Amino acid sequence: MADRLGMDPARIERLRSPDRLEYFDPDKIWDELNPPSDCTVIDIGTGVGFIALPFAERFPNATVYGCDILDGMIELLTEDAAARGLGNVKGIVMEPNSIALPDDAVDIIVMAQLHHELDAPAPLLAECKRLLRPGGTITIVDWADADNGKSPPAGRRVPVARLRDELTTAGFTALDLHDVYEFHTFMTGTA
Ligand SMILES: C[S@@+](CC[C@H](N)C(=O)[O-])C[C@H]1O[C@@H](n2cnc3c(N)ncnc32)[C@H](O)[C@@H]1O
Repeated sequence: MADRLGMDPARIERLRSPDRLEYFDPDKIWDELNPPSDCTVIDIGTGVGFIALPFAERFPNATVYGCDILDGMIELLTEDAAARGLGNVKGIVMEPNSIALPDDAVDIIVMAQLHHELDAPAPLLAECKRLLRPGGTITIVDWADADNGKSPPAGRRVPVARLRDELTTAGFTALDLHDVYEFHTFMTGTA
């Protein structure tokens, strides 16, 4: 039986809402990063697959691992991937800072609207460094640290300077900010 803790229907509806596409279209991530069509990606904190599913549709020769600590989310992701005929989506129920994949397993890791929920990001960022092949890309997209009518209140937002410090401490280089979203910070780093 799936763990539905933290999975109230209103939250699922919010995560699936097409309204999100108006200000957070996940395709813009791939327009910006222009990944190889056969790349391997991990979407950490995948939820119901807002990032993973359209990625898998756009890049049928790529593989995306959708990872979440809630097995209920992974169950919904897996059901939706099957309904859409997407054989390149692999759901993984992960421990908070650990994903059961080998070192250097993937080209890109995405974490979308997750970072502000992390009490202590360092162990998860270290796990990302382990999982990315040398030269691979970590991609963090989270609410901008601004009173913009969409971001959560100050205190639940992640300032850019803190993101930079955390990524640098985890060993990522070539940090880059992408001015793509009105309400979100979009930062990448190289493993
Ligand atoms: C706000 S939702 C965002 C979901 C998805 N990325 C999106 O943009 O629709 C955050 C997700 O991260 C998951 N999560 C929270 N803490 C996590 C952690 N430490 N590791 C992995 N997933 C986590 C939650 O269960 C939830 O599904």
